[in-house]
This record gives sequence, structure tokens and C-alpha cells, in this order.
Amino acid sequence: MTLCSNGFDAEQTVANGNKFLIGNGKFGYRGTLDEMGREHCVGLNIAGLYDGVRGKWRETVNAFNPLYLKLFAGDVPLNAWSDRVVAHSQTLDISCGVFSRKTLFRIDGGTLQLRSERFCSMANTSVLASRLELVADVDVTVDIVAGIDVDVWELNGPHFASVTLRDEGDALFAEGITQEKGVSVKVSCAFSRQPVFEDGFARFRVCLKAGQTYTLDRIANILIGDEQPICNSTYDAEYRQNAESWRRLWDKSDVILAGSGVDEAQFALRYSIYQLLTLAPKRDCSIAARGLSGQTYKGAVFWDTEMFLLPFYLKTDPISAKRLVEYRIRTLDGALDKAKSYGYKGAFFAWESQDGYDACSDFNVTDVFTHRPVRTYFKDKQIHISADVALGILRYYDQTQDAPLMLNGGLTTLLQIAEFYYSYSYYDHVGGRFELLDVIGPDEYHERVNNNAYTNYMVYHCVKRTLELFGSFGESYPSATKEILSRFEPNICAALADWVGKLYLPKCNEQGVMEQFDGYFDLEDVTVSEVRKRLVHPREYWGGTTGVATPTRVIKQADVVMLAVTLPQYFTAEQIAANYEFYLPYTEHGSSLSASAYALAACRVGRPDDAWKWFLQTARIDLDGGGKQWAGDVYIGGTHPAANGGAWMVATQGFGKMCKPDFLREVKTFF
Ligand code: BGC
Repeated sequence: MTLCSNGFDAEQTVANGNKFLIGNGKFGYRGTLDEMGREHCVGLNIAGLYDGVRGKWRETVNAFNPLYLKLFAGDVPLNAWSDRVVAHSQTLDISCGVFSRKTLFRIDGGTLQLRSERFCSMANTSVLASRLELVADVDVTVDIVAGIDVDVWELNGPHFASVTLRDEGDALFAEGITQEKGVSVKVSCAFSRQPVFEDGFARFRVCLKAGQTYTLDRIANILIGDEQPICNSTYDAEYRQNAESWRRLWDKSDVILAGSGVDEAQFALRYSIYQLLTLAPKRDCSIAARGLSGQTYKGAVFWDTEMFLLPFYLKTDPISAKRLVEYRIRTLDGALDKAKSYGYKGAFFAWESQDGYDACSDFNVTDVFTHRPVRTYFKDKQIHISADVALGILRYYDQTQDAPLMLNGGLTTLLQIAEFYYSYSYYDHVGGRFELLDVIGPDEYHERVNNNAYTNYMVYHCVKRTLELFGSFGESYPSATKEILSRFEPNICAALADWVGKLYLPKCNEQGVMEQFDGYFDLEDVTVSEVRKRLVHPREYWGGTTGVATPTRVIKQADVVMLAVTLPQYFTAEQIAANYEFYLPYTEHGSSLSASAYALAACRVGRPDDAWKWFLQTARIDLDGGGKQWAGDVYIGGTHPAANGGAWMVATQGFGKMCKPDFLREVKTFF
């Protein structure tokens, strides 16, 4: 279960930072090398700790780097990009989350090998530990300069108002206070040998004999707020505990593809599961769209969490699943405020949630030609987010029957969501129905459309289920349910039942195809490749008012197909097939969320070859460094948790449930 790369290619530094990422749910550490700094995008990204610097986008905080290290043989600096490198390789063992690198340097009269490994402990989640080993084939004096690098890579920083650095005993300590909320971030690094401290660095002079191995261990603690450090641990003890925690995680979550010729797919699937395991939150927060790989997408939580990540945790890790659901319940006030700010009732959840606050800006894309911000309506109009949150809560309850959670916020959140859509909808007197107008569906390229099929069905389904739940809770917990209802208008359930019965649900046409939104079929009938030829600039934004896709049927990602795989009960098998075939040539897959939806649909409609292709695409995304790196002028690179979750869904809910022709690999799951 090991990912390997041989040779050093400076061009791959950022990609490898994502690919070789390690993490433990509390923080992630990018797959960079010991000697790298901010220019190489070294990142120790903290889950759920946000900071905003005046006038810039608020984002998660990257902490100081406690594993910074420089090596010298005499006066000669030895690093991965020097002409002294004879060989270099790096690996990531996904069975226990251990990254390692080995670099062989040419030195006077011989060679020196540097090997280092590190892991973010899954057992003691404040700990980042590293072991360094040096061995040479000649006697040599080596100088090691190790320290906490406080020069942090940031997209919208600097996030620390003040930084203090000190040494004590065998350790270095750095503390920063975040700009916005004054949260303390403490990073320490204890060495297994006593250093000489000088200029804020720990220095070691090593007189290495030929063939002898020199070892230096570093145990770092990353502490947020008033968290206390783990004391007296050794590298070997931390290593054992970490490996044991990972073993238990894999026992619960491994998925095995049986059959011949599946090794590549098996590794990609396990790599996806590895990413999901590194993201399971360890405190009261959720999972960012780019996980712990950095600050892209502002470290914010999107619908990705409910639709692509939650299914994995629901089956393998109910504690994390509960945290994800509780995050939405805890941030309900933000959703109530957002709805109110637009003149609606109920709960309109943040499109890009940072503790409930909507980080999505009014100008979320920058034009590549003019470099001016482009007005986008994701925040204002992507109203399906509240239904996605509702579906997450409903699925959580279906899986766990956790009545206390429902009585302590779950039911209230569901009803507030229903009330939001009730107040948002518009009554069409001619048609005698309620409609959801001026919205954006999952396909973000077509903004401000009417009656997006995904949105209308998700709202219908979630409101119906909410009302059913109120019925059953009313019987099982009459006084608690009555108390919840007393905070809403009298007869709210009856009013919602009447309203949702009149909500417009677009139907499939004679060919079995459901129109993505009113008027979609009238758009220019042109395929993705044709639209791509119309681009003037490779990074130009396809959607919005002036995008190349806007006047056409070309869509960013699965939309009706996403609906068909999420709520298949509203479609016949023939209709799912018809929608799959119809929308495929128009889908750009400009979002990493798209491939898994198509894979799931392909499984449902008996197209195993297609399913396998989409599955590999989604499962391999972070191995291949796939996915868009730019939206206009805005960098959006990093890891892709939703694609990782999608890969797991395809394996278990797609292949796992499909009637299996021989060439379809048997899927064996451990839950
Ligand atoms: C997609 C959204 C997704 C977001 C974060 C965007 O490119 O269109 O659906 O939620 O990325 O992954």
C-alpha cells in the first residue's frame, strides 16, 4: 500500500505536495521535502481554524513548519535541487500515513544518504513526528540546521498578528496569534539530541564515520487555543501508536476489489479511502472542499460534504458522521441570518461555509482578460445547498436512528430549511403551482435559471421526509416535538404539506429526458469539444454572463444525472439511461464531482465499461494531479475529497450493488 516516486522534478513540487499529503483530521502536512520553504508551498493546514485579513478572503490557517531542516557537508548545502543529488525517491505508505524520502548526495570522496520519514499521529492528534537518518560511505562532518519555519506559505495572509520564538531544554517553541479572532497557535519541536540553539535554530554538528547511521528524531506538537502538549513520548512509541490507530481504521473501512487486473484500481480506491481517513474531523468542525491540502477554496465547506463525503463516514465512522451533521446544526444561526438578509424565512445555508459564515464572495472569479472580478451568483442563488444539508441529516437519521440529535437541533434545522424554500417559492397563478425561480443548480455555468430539476426534486423530497419525521416524532416524543413546533408559526406542517404538494416537479419528456431547467432544450445544441474550441484563453471562465458555455447546452458537471443517482426513486431505469446518454456529450466534467455521478449512473444503467472509466478517473484524480487548477485567475488546486468520497460510493453503492457480469470485479466490503 505504498505510493512511490523516483527522481526529483522541481516542476512537480506543488503536485507532489498534494499527492504525498499526510494528515490526521486535525491538520494536514503537505508532501514537500524537509529543506523546502514557503516558495515550495510547504503547508501545515489546520482544520476549521479560519482567519481573515482585512480586505482579503478569509481562509484556514497554515501553521508554522516545525520540520524545517537544512543539511551541509562542510560548506556545501545539500538539498533535493542541488547538483550533488545522485538519486532521490519518496514514498507514502497509506496503510499508516507515513511519508518518507531518501536522497543520495555526492560528497567529497563518497556519498551521503539522507532518509527521513514523518507522520501526523492518528493516535495523538496534536503530534507531528519525524525521524532523520544519515549514513555515508566515507567519514564526513555534517551540519544540521533544524527549526520552526515561521515564514508561512499563505494565499491571503499573513494570518499571525504576532510571532514569538524561543528555545527551552531540547526544544524550540513558536507561538502565533491569529489576526481576526486572536486564537493562539503553538508549534513546538522537541529533538532527541541536545542541540546548540543559535539565531532561533537548533544546530547539530555530526562527525559521521563511514557506514555508521546517525539518527535524529523530532516530535512536534501543534496546539490550538488552550490545548496542552503530549509529554515524554518517543518517536518509536508515537510510531507504534499511530500504526495501531491506522490498522483499526483500515479494519473498518477497507474495500477490496477482487479479480485479476485490478491492482491499479485497487490502489486508487485505497488511496481515496486513505484521503478520507486523513480528513475525519477530530473536533467540532467539518471537512473543507480541498481537505487539508491548503487554503484553496478558502478552506470552506461545500455541498461536497453531505453529497460525497458523508456516505463514507456514515458506513465506517459514525462519530465523524455525527460531527459533520452537528456542524450544520451548530451553524444554523448563520443560515437563518443569510436567509433573512435576502428577505426570506428559515435556513439558507452558506454556499462556502466557514463556521456558518458564507465565505463565497460576490465576485468569486477573476476575468483572465481584464483581470477584473466577475460578479457570480453562487452564494445568492445556489439554493440547493439547504436541501443537500437536509438530505445529510435525513440520511444520518436513517442510518443511526439517533433520536436525541434530531430532538436537539436536527428536526429544527430540517423545518427551518423547509420554511426557507416555502418562503423562496413563487406561486404561478396560471400553472397553479409553486416554482423555484432564479436559481443555480449543480451546473454552475448557467446562472439564474428557473426550476432547476435537481433543486426542485431535492426540495420536494427533503420537505416530504421532514414532514413524515415530524409525524413519527410527534407520536414517539409528543411533548418534545410540540416544543420544537411551538417555535414556528401555528400549523406550519399543514401549510408545508399543502405547499410541497403543489411544488412544480419537471417530468421526463417522451425520450425519457428531464430538462435541466426551463428553456434548457432551447439552448444551442453543441458539444463540449466544440465549445472548447471557442476558448480564447485556456483559463477563461466558461460560465456566468459572458462564458462560452452560457448560451449553449454545455454544462459544468452532472446535474440531472446527479439527481438521478441521488434520488433514483423518481426515475425509471429507462429514464436514468436516457438522461445519462443525453447529458453526457454536453458535460464538461469541469468539476471533480462529476465523474463519480456519471460512474454511479453508468452502474445503474448497466454500462460497466463506462462506469469503470469514470471510476478510475475519480479514484485517480489526486494520483494523476487531475482536476482544474485555475478558475479564471484564481488558483483552485489541491486534493479532491469529494472525488475520493465519490470513488468509495461508486465501489460500494455502484459496483457493489450492480448485478455483476463476470468482468465486473466483485466488491467485498468490511462493514
Ligand atoms: C463545483 C462545486 C463544488 C466546488 C467545491 C466547484 O467547482 O462546481 O459543485 O462544490 O467546486 O468542490
